[in-house]
Amino acid sequence: QNVVKIGVAGLGTVGAGTVKLLSEHRDNLADRSGSPMIVTAVSARDRTRDRGFSTEGITWYEDARDLATDKNVDVVVETIGGSDGIAYDVCKAALENGKHVVTANKALIALHGVELARIADAHNVTIAYEAAVAGGIPVIKALREGLAGNAISRVTGILNGTCNYILTTMREQGRDFADVLAEAQKLGYAEADPTFDVDGIDAAHKLAILTSLAFGVEVDFDAIAVEGIRSVSALDIQLAEELGYRIKLLAIAKQTPEGIEQRVSPVLVDRSTQISKVEGVFNAVVLEGDYVGPVVLQGRGAGERPTASAVVADLVDIAAGRNAPVFGVPADRLKKNVRASLEKH
Ligand code: NDP
Ligand code: HSE
Repeated sequence: QNVVKIGVAGLGTVGAGTVKLLSEHRDNLADRSGSPMIVTAVSARDRTRDRGFSTEGITWYEDARDLATDKNVDVVVETIGGSDGIAYDVCKAALENGKHVVTANKALIALHGVELARIADAHNVTIAYEAAVAGGIPVIKALREGLAGNAISRVTGILNGTCNYILTTMREQGRDFADVLAEAQKLGYAEADPTFDVDGIDAAHKLAILTSLAFGVEVDFDAIAVEGIRSVSALDIQLAEELGYRIKLLAIAKQTPEGIEQRVSPVLVDRSTQISKVEGVFNAVVLEGDYVGPVVLQGRGAGERPTASAVVADLVDIAAGRNAPVFGVPADRLKKNVRASLEKH
C-alpha cells in the first residue's frame, strides 16, 4: 500500500481539527481510500502552543513555503487563510511542485481559484476545496458530481455560520450583536477578520465559487452585490418575528435572460419555509436543477469538526486517485461570466 504523506500548513481551528481527525479515524480512512494517510510536516507561527495532538516525529516548518516543497510531503493542506500572501504562495508552490492541495480557504479560491486551477491542470494535480463552502456540507461534490447531469437555474444559501449564529442568538436570547459575535469568535466560527463575516464578504466568496461550479463560468467575485448584517437591529428581528418572518443572510445566484445575477443580503424569509428553520451555526444550500428539481443540503457551516470532516473528504478522494476537474471542467473550458444588471432584478 502506498502511504500518502500530508503536510498541514496552519494549525488553528481547521488545521488542528484535520490532524486530529486523520489520527482518530486512521484505520477507517486507510480502508476507504486504499492508502494509509500520515501527517509528515506541519507549520504554524507559534511552536510553543498546545495544538491538542503530539507533533513528535512530524517536521515543523517555521516558514510554510518550505513545507510546500518538502519531498516528504505528497499533499499540502492549506489552513492558514487569506487570499494573498503566505496562503497563496504555499498553494502555488505546492501545485508547481506537483503536489495536490486541499484548502479551506474560500477567499483564496474566490479570488485566485481559476489561476490556481490552471496551474493544477498544467501539473496534473488538483486543488480541492470542499471545506471552503458551507463547512461540513458536501456541496462542492454535490454540484460538481452529483448534479452534473443538470442545467442549474438557481443556487440559494445560508453560507455564513457566524451570521446565522448571530441572527439566531439575537432573536432567541435578545442579546447584543457585539456580544454574540465575540461568542462566535470564541467558538472558532468567525474569520480572522470578522468583518468578512458580518459584512457579507465571506458569504460572497462562497457564492462566487458555487456560481462557477453551477454555471460553468469563471469565478467573478466582483460581480456580486454584497450587503451584510451590521445594520440589522434587535428590533428589526423582533418585528420580523411578529409579522411571521425570520431575517436570514441569503446568498443567491440565478440565471436570468441577461446573464447571472449574484447577491448576498439580509432577507425576510417566511417562517413556514424550510430555510427559515436553519438556525445557529447551521448552513443550508438549495440547488435547483432542470432534471432533479430542488435539492436541499443542510449541516454545520463552521467549526473545527465539521470543517475537518470536509478537508478529510478531499484527502480521501486524492488518496484514492479520484481527482475531478477543479471547477467541474478543465479551467480553460470555463466560460467568461456574463453579469446580469443588478438594478433591474
Ligand atoms: P485560525 O486563525 O484558527 O488558524 C490559522 C492558522 O494559521 C494558525 O495555526 C496560525 O498559526 C497559522 N498561520 C498564520 N500565519 C501563518 C504563517 N505565516 N505561517 C504558518 N502558519 C501561519 O483559522 P481557521 O482555522 O479558523 O481558518 C483557516 C482557514 O479555514 C481560513 O481560510 C478560513 O476561512 C477557513 N475556514 C474556517 C472555518 C472555521 O470554522 N473556522 C470553516 C471553513 C473554512 P498560530 O496558531 O501559531 O497563530
Ligand atoms: N467564518 C465562516 C463562517 C467559517 O462563519 O461561516 C466557515 O466558512
